[in-house]
Amino acid sequence: MNEDANPINGQGRGAGDGTGEGLGQGPHGIREGESRRALPESIRCFLVERTEKERTSGSVTTRPFAELPDGDVVIRVAWSSLNYKDALAALGHPGVARKLPHVPGIDAAGYVVHSDADPFVPGRPVLVTGYELGAGRWGGWSSHIRVPADWVVPLPDGLTLRESMVLGTAGFTAAMSVAALAAHGISPDSGPIAVTGATGGVGCLAVSMLSRLGYHVAAVTGKADRKAWLADLGAREILARSDVLDTTPRALLSARWAGAVDTVGGPVLATLVRSTKVDGCVAACGLVGGADLALTVYPFLLRGVHLAGIDSALCPYAKRRALWRHLAGDWKPRDLDRLATDVVLDDVGPRIDAILAGRIAGRTVIRVGDGS
Ligand SMILES: NC(=O)c1ccc[n+]([C@@H]2O[C@H](COP(=O)([O-])OP(=O)(O)OC[C@H]3O[C@@H](n4cnc5c(N)ncnc54)[C@H](OP(=O)(O)O)[C@@H]3O)[C@@H](O)[C@H]2O)c1
Repeated sequence: MNEDANPINGQGRGAGDGTGEGLGQGPHGIREGESRRALPESIRCFLVERTEKERTSGSVTTRPFAELPDGDVVIRVAWSSLNYKDALAALGHPGVARKLPHVPGIDAAGYVVHSDADPFVPGRPVLVTGYELGAGRWGGWSSHIRVPADWVVPLPDGLTLRESMVLGTAGFTAAMSVAALAAHGISPDSGPIAVTGATGGVGCLAVSMLSRLGYHVAAVTGKADRKAWLADLGAREILARSDVLDTTPRALLSARWAGAVDTVGGPVLATLVRSTKVDGCVAACGLVGGADLALTVYPFLLRGVHLAGIDSALCPYAKRRALWRHLAGDWKPRDLDRLATDVVLDDVGPRIDAILAGRIAGRTVIRVGDGS
């Protein structure tokens, strides 16, 4: 990877840099009509409520616009997405949906319809991922959101609103992980990179991005029937979970990986750290396989292994903008369109069950309204 591909060093320049991203020069420019739209009296959203017996249920409903939380920018949402965290929120999981009733959706893309802050004039196409969206605060599974201006990212040139949600938090997290590997000096020449949960949202986008950048990707999956799909994304090796998991108590295992992007956590993450080569780096971003980490310090002391934590929600704004420019340009997965299944808000229920069961391959994008 050349220096330009590393946003950490401040040199990163992707598509959209200096070209007036979202300023109306091209297909993603400002929509004149939005400024003439009146703010609606009510909004349509997927609301999770507590029912009797301490249970929750979620359904599409209409709520008064005035219920939206305070904020500088009102966005008419055209697309959102489904992440593992959204599925937890849709069940009212208290670690995500901090209070009920709650509207999930940690990602949203659409048009500004009202703004008290420059440069977000009405009609500007924008996206929001992370922060408190869809967690402590009303999320993107809604016809409108109202958020602080410093959460809002102009849609970079090179992405449509839908594409930005095919990426969403998953793609952004994959990009942060790629950036972490690069920042620790892991280049395509360093050796194989393991990506776990490879058919999942973060995983498949990490496979695709790393492959595009020339890395040798070993995709680790529990879905034997998705080998060809992962190979199409660029994975050079496809491994079963059992091929990488070692549950012995050995402090160090034979060194296999120059780096890893781990979406699984638990014993899989512990195995990866123990099997990483000298001066390698493991980007830890997920916990679908467990939150505990049983390790000794030996991989750090005897091999200088780096464990890079990834927190996409609170990524600082300047780095966030730089990474989105990469996602729209030199890191953009080649087959973004075919990585996602589209659903409308009313049909999100079965996809929630499927993602929690680990059955989904790729991303799910949610069309809100007519998606334009
Ligand atoms: N740190 C951050 O900022 C951040 C941001 C986004 C997501 N995350 C976390 O990253 C993880 C993945 O998120 P996602 O949205 O990509 O989820 P996802 O689409 O559901 O993908 C998760 C994938 O993990 C694998 N998997 C599922 N259950 C497993 C288990 N019990 N053991 C091992 N592998 C299992 C499956 O892939 P295979 O069948 O291919 O193995 C599954 O498709 C989640 O824990 C999420 O909370 C963190």
